[in-house]
Amino acid sequence: MKILLASSEVHPFSKTGGLADMVGALAKTLAGFGHRVGLVTPLYSGLREKFHKIKKLNWDINLPLGPGQVAAEVWTLSVSARLTIYFIRQPDFFERPGLYQEAGRDYPDNAARFVFFSKCVAQLARYLPWKPELVHVHDWQAALVPLFVRHQSLSDGWHRVPHTCLTIHNLAYQGNFPASAFELTNLPAGYFNPKGVEFFNHLNCLKAGIVFSDIITTVSPRYAREIMTGQFGCGLEGILQQRRESVFGILNGVDYSEWRTTRNSFLRHPFSAKRISGKLSGKLALQKEMGLPVNAKIPLFATVSRLADQKGVDILLGALEEMLGNEMQFILLGNGSPFFENAYRDLARRYPDKVGVRIGFDQGLSHRIEAGSDFFLMPSLYEPCGLNQMYSQRYGTIPVVRTTGGLDDSVVDDSEDPAKATGIKFAEYSAPALARAIRRALNLFQDPPRFRAYRINGMKADFSWRRTGEHYLRAYEQAQAQLT
Ligand code: ADP
Ligand code: GLC
Repeated sequence: MKILLASSEVHPFSKTGGLADMVGALAKTLAGFGHRVGLVTPLYSGLREKFHKIKKLNWDINLPLGPGQVAAEVWTLSVSARLTIYFIRQPDFFERPGLYQEAGRDYPDNAARFVFFSKCVAQLARYLPWKPELVHVHDWQAALVPLFVRHQSLSDGWHRVPHTCLTIHNLAYQGNFPASAFELTNLPAGYFNPKGVEFFNHLNCLKAGIVFSDIITTVSPRYAREIMTGQFGCGLEGILQQRRESVFGILNGVDYSEWRTTRNSFLRHPFSAKRISGKLSGKLALQKEMGLPVNAKIPLFATVSRLADQKGVDILLGALEEMLGNEMQFILLGNGSPFFENAYRDLARRYPDKVGVRIGFDQGLSHRIEAGSDFFLMPSLYEPCGLNQMYSQRYGTIPVVRTTGGLDDSVVDDSEDPAKATGIKFAEYSAPALARAIRRALNLFQDPPRFRAYRINGMKADFSWRRTGEHYLRAYEQAQAQLT
């Protein structure tokens, strides 16, 4: 199959969260299966300096954007014979310090930036010489693409258009802009109604994708069910229910060529299920790196996370206040909301021997934390998939998770299957419930044979991309079976 992917972030070029990991790995997997894969993404600052092989294509784009015209260049990087990255170079839009925001504030022209990006994707889908058969777009930043494709097939002479697939990585981010932003699409006014892209007098980019894409996927089976409900549907549950036959929940995979415990340049102490001693050395080194007492006997808990309400960082603060009287340590790597950044810095000041906090984004440290900790805390309010609980398992670190979305789908609690338990789950979204889960973890730590069994089960669990990639191919076949 010939597949064109589009995403506003892609590992290893740009990343604010799991979207980047997922899209980077999906592209590699599909190309590895033998398919022709292209991937469109913005050319952000610094990429050309870091990836010298990125080259300009002889392809200049000039498209209407509302009342004006905007020009862009297409740059490209050939990753392998079957995988090409297409970068959209539009310096005014994309050469900025942040991807979507600075100092916690969204860029005011995000609608223009990503409507334009989506138009460029449709342009590539239409004119790439290898003629993509399926266009797979990710999240709101690219969710207008299926509509542009549909519109151009209906009224702009584009015959044999590709089928389309939208993946929702997080329904809470919809690209919802005042009605005036609709002008940027340069589409006929007829699309701006509740059956189209309008959402309470706003342009809703994600809704456009849900309405106009052939199929919709999201990143875990449980989240696919959750988003049909009022509790998790963020106002789009009705429209998702209407399309329920075309919605598929596919659990993300782990790129085991990156998230590995041996031959990993971020880890000074390699280890494996058979040779676990390296993990202990990693723990001691991590305690030292974070300025905590170096002691193998103290259970070490950790979190690597965006500091946003979604991630349960509020109940985590409450639970830690309750639990830090016990012998334990806690490490946090994260950034995001200034309120939570300060609250965690303050926690570290008050418990200097127990809490280590690093505010920032640091890939190497995220690997060392996954590798060196005993328990990984993910008390998310909601979690479409979540990757760290799967990375943790491979790294022999036991996840403590709330039963929501992909967390529920990828961790086995001992109440579900004692022989196969890989982690600790709790249900109620509250600090005391999380504190109880942490207490269970402390008890597990005191029971070495059981602790080891959890660890080994997790390290053996298989979240490989091969399976995930096969599910996507089946979903693409469904898309191709749709009549458009
Ligand atoms: P989300 O995409 O909602 O943030 P995921 O669990 O899917 O959550 O993915 C988060 C990804 O971002 C993981 O690869 C995680 O290691 C990484 N990450 C999050 N915060 C940081 C940080 N401060 N430093 C380094 N990596 C981070
Ligand atoms: C989103 C979700 C996260 C998911 C990631 C990759 O950022 O919040 O749960 O793992 O996308 O699909």
